[in-house]
Order: sequence, then C-alpha cells, then structure tokens
Amino acid sequence: MFQPVRIAPSILSADFMHLGDDVAMIEQAGAAFVHIDVMDGHFVPNLTMGVPLLKSLKPATKLVCDVHLMIDNPLTELPWFIDAGADLLNVHVEALSEADLVRAVAQIHEAGLLAAAALKPKTPVAALAPVIADLDMALVMSVEPGFSGQSYIVGSDLKVAEVAAMARGAGNEAMLIQVDGGIGEKTAPLVAAAGADVLVCGNAVFKAADPASALQAVQAAADEARLAALAGGEQGA
Ligand code: DX5
Ligand code: ZN
Repeated sequence: MFQPVRIAPSILSADFMHLGDDVAMIEQAGAAFVHIDVMDGHFVPNLTMGVPLLKSLKPATKLVCDVHLMIDNPLTELPWFIDAGADLLNVHVEALSEADLVRAVAQIHEAGLLAAAALKPKTPVAALAPVIADLDMALVMSVEPGFSGQSYIVGSDLKVAEVAAMARGAGNEAMLIQVDGGIGEKTAPLVAAAGADVLVCGNAVFKAADPASALQAVQAAADEARLAALAGGEQGA
C-alpha cells in the first residue's frame, strides 16, 4: 500500500539565530521529523549541537525529534539524550562493537523511544545484522557524515534496496529506511523508488529561496517515484 515519504529537515542547515522560526516553518510545511545532527569532533571532524539544544527544541515542536548521533561513545551518552526528550535515537554501527550495538538498541527501547542504526557510505549493510530484526529505522548515509551541503554519492539507492531486502528477510517489514546526505528534488526519487521512507534534507530545504515549497517539491518528487515503483512492482508480480 502506498505511504507518502516523510521529510526530515536537518536543522544543521537552519539559521541558528532564528531556529524557532525555522522549526515552526518546517512543521507548517508538512515535515514529519526534525533531524538533529549531533557531532562530537571525534567520530566526525565537525562539532555541532547536543543536549541543551534538544532540551529547548523538544517542548517547542510536535515533530518527531530524530537525533542522529555522530559521536564516538553513544552508549554512555544515550541516557542524556533520552532525558533531553529525543523521540528517536540513531546510533552509528561504526562507533560500537556488535555487543554494544545490541545493548544500545535495547537501552533505547527500554526508555520507550524509537531505535535506529546508521551506516556510513563505506560500511556494508551486513553490519546491521545483529539488530536488523529489532530496529524501527535504519539510516543509509549518502554522503560521508560531517557536513551538510555535500553531493549525493551515486549508487546509494542500491544500498537502500539492499537494506530493504535484508529487513524483509529478517521479518521486519515495518522498519523504516532513512537516507541522509545530498537529498533534494533530483535525488529523492532515486532513493524513494529503492525503498526509502524518510528523507533527510538540509541544504535542499533551508538554503532554498522558498524553503516550504522546496520541502513540498522534494516530497512530491519522492512520492511520485514511490507510486511508480509500486505500480511497476505490482505489474511485475
Ligand atoms: C551529514 C548530516 C546530514 C546533513 C544533511 O553528516 O548527517 O544530516 O546535515 O545535509 P544535506 O541535506 O545538505 O546533505
Ligand atoms: Zn544527519
């Protein structure tokens, strides 16, 4: 059955001096998530935002607070972000041993939050194996994490299809697939057709002349591709 994609604007590209206005704008324009890029200067070179910002943001929005942890020590930091009001916590598989990845997902679920695991572009999808049956969402990075405004890595849609097949194989049909990096009106259809459910957009939304229209244009382009893929699949069946 057709489900529209969910747009998750990344506030890394927002105007921090007017963050409240920017978040209200994306909510009004139809975003489903607000994507919060937490970077520690170790796991990735950049240093961005963290717990105090999430604490201020959470009561100001109805959007799902989607926290993308690009940090070296997610296991020790999880309680802080749980306490600060995250709805969804996303840990990178590269930052954790297999056992700690399983622990992190369990800890997020015990707190009643949605759990996601993220893959850097060069990380094989097999790294999701220990948790794929339990995840609410998997994130396929389509740029090297660290900065907004980079170009989509060609072929990332093939990885989305691989993750979708792996989730089906594990009996986790409900798992969402998120794609993050270089997503805009041109690239959204590629990943949506491959099975992406949640699209992170930084520059494509916040750096557009009309951000609300840009968000809706990405959504429309992605939904059209999803519908076409669904129709093609049904014909082929
Ligand atoms: C990159 C971040 C992304 C980034 C997306 O490490 O995880 O969320 O802000 O920005 P765009 O859409 O501009 O690539
Ligand atoms: Zn991100």
